[in-house]
Amino acid sequence: MDQFNKGVKVAIFILMVATIGSEERRCYCKVVQFIFGDSLSDVGNNNYLSKSLARAALPWYGIDFGRGMPNGRFTNGRTIADIVGDRMGLPRPPAFLDPSLDDETILNSGVSYASGGGGILNETSSLFIQRFSLSKQIELFQGTQEMIKMKIGETAATNFFQQAHYVVALGSNDYINNFLLPVYADSWTYNGETFTNYVIASLDGQLRLLHSLGARKLTFFGLGPMGCIPLQRFLTLSGECQESTNKLSIMFNNKAKNVLDTLSKTLPNATYLFGDAYDIFQDLINRPEIYGFSNSNEPCCRVAKIRPTLTCTPLSSLCKDRSKYVFWDEYHPTDKANEVIANAVVAKLGLAKPSNGTHNS
Ligand SMILES: *[C@@H]1O[C@H](CO)[C@@H](O)[C@H](O)[C@H]1NC(C)=O
Ligand SMILES: *[C@@H]1O[C@H](CO)[C@@H](O)[C@H](O)[C@H]1NC(C)=O
Ligand SMILES: *[C@@H]1O[C@H](CO)[C@@H](O)[C@H](O)[C@H]1NC(C)=O
Repeated sequence: MDQFNKGVKVAIFILMVATIGSEERRCYCKVVQFIFGDSLSDVGNNNYLSKSLARAALPWYGIDFGRGMPNGRFTNGRTIADIVGDRMGLPRPPAFLDPSLDDETILNSGVSYASGGGGILNETSSLFIQRFSLSKQIELFQGTQEMIKMKIGETAATNFFQQAHYVVALGSNDYINNFLLPVYADSWTYNGETFTNYVIASLDGQLRLLHSLGARKLTFFGLGPMGCIPLQRFLTLSGECQESTNKLSIMFNNKAKNVLDTLSKTLPNATYLFGDAYDIFQDLINRPEIYGFSNSNEPCCRVAKIRPTLTCTPLSSLCKDRSKYVFWDEYHPTDKANEVIANAVVAKLGLAKPSNGTHNS
């Protein structure tokens, strides 16, 4: 009996060695995420771009994440993409520029190319000097694909990239750090509608490119009410939201949704979803108390009475209860607000993993 068991074990061992030995036939079945985005999804890329003016490298960024040190996220805790991925049961991808990123990590956890300041258009946020635009992020992704092909072979790599989940979440900067700032040529070349058409045409082309590179399951996150971020309110003097800016968000979202729906119907095997966060975000801003918040118009992190402070710094003071503020700094929501928004998107698109599985930081 013992001899028999031993024999079986040896046979299994030999079989495993044989399977692992033939790289081309080995199954890389793990589903990972590839994330393309801006500061709302950045998990550290910009901290490695030493010349970038958009970095979350100083306290109090990250105060409610892990050990509370800055980690490159432009919020106190988790991003919307973190929370959505968690709810889907997918591993959190590391930043592309993380020096410890290697092919094993990519096969197990995917990659995030998201970069603060990044836009759908190349020219967006040029004032930040360094950032990855969407086309740059896709270029980096193509490099990742070459690396994985060399590691596991063409066939296995094709399967791996087709099984992965893709997140694309950009667009705010194309307005806030381009069209709406008169220093950018786009602001005087276009009007709201022609500019939006230009951004949407570029998005359409880049989503098609991702499909040609193997992306089959993709979620695009639409824009929130950009006119209600604290910075935009500050500029109105009355403190109200900039309705004209909100109209641009709505116009962009309607057109982007059409693009996603069309691609989903026409590209082979594509499930391309539009994650609409506008209504829930607007409701959270209009009626914060319904969701357990007390403030939806000022940043939690700011320097005493000085406004606007473009970034949260160690000199800033924090609001008393971070879980009661919708906004963390002049641009970005808090962890708690991101949770409300992410949960609404997950519910709307039916993305949650059938079992449970929500966990914090
Ligand atoms: C945008 O930049 C990429 C390089 O990152 C370049 O390949 C592409 O042609 C540019 N697109 C336009 C429209 O200029
Ligand atoms: C679509 O899916 C089918 C079935 O899995 C597969 O045979 C086919 O190659 C796929 N086509 C593309 C373009 O991915
Ligand atoms: C999932 O639910 C089960 C029972 O409902 C519970 O025992 C388990 O701890 C939950 N897991 C997570 C990750 O929440």
